[in-house]
Amino acid sequence: MQSNYLETYQSWMGEPEAFWKAQADRLDWFKPADKVFDGDAGLYGRWFAGAETNTCHNCLDRHVAAGRGEDTAVIYDSPMTGAKKRYSFDDVLAEVMAIAAVLRNHGVAKGDRVIIYMPMIPEAVFSMLACARIGAIHSVVFGGFAASELATRIDDCGAKVVISASCGLEPGRIIPYKPLLDHALDMAKVKPEYCFVLQRDELHAPLRYEHGDVDFAKAVEVERINGTPVACEPVAATDPLYILYTSGTTGQPKGVVRDNGGHMVALAWTMENIYGVKPGEVFWAASDIGWVVGHSYIVYGPLLAGNTTVIFEGKPVGTPDAGTFWRVVAEHDVKALFTAPTAFRAIRRDDPDGELIRKYDSSGLRALFLAGERADPETIKWAEKMLKVPVIDHWWQTETGWAIAANPAGLGLLPVKYGSPAVPMPGYGVEVLDDAGHPVPRGTLGNIVVKLPLPPGCLVTFWNADERFRSSCLEEFPGYYKTADAGIVDEDGYVFVMARTDDIINCAGHRLSTGAMEEVCAMHPDVAECAVIGIADELKGQIPCGFLVLKRDVNRDFSAIQREIVQLVRDEIGPVAAFKTVMKVERLPKTRSGKILRGTMQKIADGLPWKMPATIDDPVILDEITVVLKSHGHG
Ligand code: COA
Ligand code: AMP
Repeated sequence: MQSNYLETYQSWMGEPEAFWKAQADRLDWFKPADKVFDGDAGLYGRWFAGAETNTCHNCLDRHVAAGRGEDTAVIYDSPMTGAKKRYSFDDVLAEVMAIAAVLRNHGVAKGDRVIIYMPMIPEAVFSMLACARIGAIHSVVFGGFAASELATRIDDCGAKVVISASCGLEPGRIIPYKPLLDHALDMAKVKPEYCFVLQRDELHAPLRYEHGDVDFAKAVEVERINGTPVACEPVAATDPLYILYTSGTTGQPKGVVRDNGGHMVALAWTMENIYGVKPGEVFWAASDIGWVVGHSYIVYGPLLAGNTTVIFEGKPVGTPDAGTFWRVVAEHDVKALFTAPTAFRAIRRDDPDGELIRKYDSSGLRALFLAGERADPETIKWAEKMLKVPVIDHWWQTETGWAIAANPAGLGLLPVKYGSPAVPMPGYGVEVLDDAGHPVPRGTLGNIVVKLPLPPGCLVTFWNADERFRSSCLEEFPGYYKTADAGIVDEDGYVFVMARTDDIINCAGHRLSTGAMEEVCAMHPDVAECAVIGIADELKGQIPCGFLVLKRDVNRDFSAIQREIVQLVRDEIGPVAAFKTVMKVERLPKTRSGKILRGTMQKIADGLPWKMPATIDDPVILDEITVVLKSHGHG
């Protein structure tokens, strides 16, 4: 098939507003926009200013009204519990209305913030949609974060209520959520009025009714039986739909704010054009609702486009084996699968010859999409060979909410260049600038930026932190959004994303801040100074590695300090930080102005060529670091 990519991209470039208006016309609006794009509003302009809509209406009611109420909207498949369940659009609507009624009865109204701290269960998705229905703003927190991270988010968004569950399930262990939640609430300065707790069969949590705990299932059951209809609250297209916190360069996470109108327009466009799926087909993003991939492609994208989405409570390996993905693909007739390259590296490690792939009939699968971290060519080639379908790398960020660059399956695939997530999507004017802000020649490494305005669906600001958004994303390169990724655009316009320009690392497809980990290490009483860098890891892409300089008078056994620091990061950030490697060093390499040379340390650790920085204060320290790394098997 000849690709329509170029003409589509050019049609957007020629008339961006007409392009997005045509997409918007495919959705329902309670009031049309006064302006498709208002360049004077917001921090870089706002999409669909003056329009009113409701995202939940467009995900559910619109399809029911079109006669698709009995079609399957959601499939829940949990290899953790053995549960499998299908929900039609009618079923989801009923569940969402019941939850919306419960929220409303407990005083949650338009604009209020609701924290959702839940595992991968249908109620998590229904709760998100219930918030959207009444115009409340949800903020989902990933289950692998510690209590203090949860408390930070409760405080930052000023949560009115929390929706949670009694436990999450990890392979071989139950994670009790309630103690974490109670601890977070004790720490938080903002005290939510109610905590709704879904009791799971695997572990019941004692509820503190006197503190506002509510048994979620019982409350929802009452409303389900009542069948109370809850109409969709008209919200401005520019009103926030959700806040999703993501790692920044400090311990304070950034609350990415997504609006209602632009978000639904952009995501609906991507389903057919990037992912190549038609309404009614099954789309599966094997991620978690705690991440942006889960927001965009487990919940909103597929439901907006009328696809069936899969909620999978399991892991690529070990639940029970590396064939799980193929079982799900075969059993539910998945047409397009989206996951992180890490998941494939894990599958390949356990099933190198693809025996478990052949055990299932995955002939319905048309494409595999990878994102979240750099997709190494080896993994892509292995997946192509094993699955015999196109394997499509695409690049995006929590901030953008959808792909900046991709090989658009729906528009017709372009030739693959391994190591590149292909070409910019309509809406994104991608350029590469040097540090002074000048465009670099094609093929030259530099800062990847996106010409403003960002397209619909991208973040509009950070919650309560316009200035932080401006200073971290818009200021350095005036007129552009700074992606904080470094890379290349080649002669054919293909983008190559090489590395972050800040201290964010990608570990097992999870975005982590090494700065936040340094802050935690520095809390330990024996630590004088520390640096955390991401070092290459075959399975997880990168893993964090801490270098500690101890205070002079410390003469305790280092292994005890090591254990305490690892535990501290686990307690303060969470197990998801995967912080397990700690090394003792006498000094840290610095520039003459005192900046720690993390980039050079990383190159040494990864065994890459490196140059002695001209500004280094004492070059001998790099030799010391090399010796320590070698003694730990790195470099
Ligand atoms: N709740 C509680 N703990 C969690 C958790 C959750 N939702 N998710 C992860 N954790 C814990 C893990 O149990 C692990 O704990 P441990 O240190 O006690 O073993 C720790 O956090 C680190 O997890 P992770 O880095 O994910 O490693 P893993 O060994 O458990 O799994 C993979 C490795 C590759 C199978 C897994 O990371 C994976 O599926 N990655 C894909 C990620 C993804 O989908 N990203 C979204 C972008 S598309
Ligand atoms: P997150 O916000 O968690 O989605 O992480 C976004 C970051 O992950 C990006 O800024 C990149 O550094 C990295 N990333 C995501 N997808 C890709 C990809 N396809 N190729 C290279 N890096 C990627």
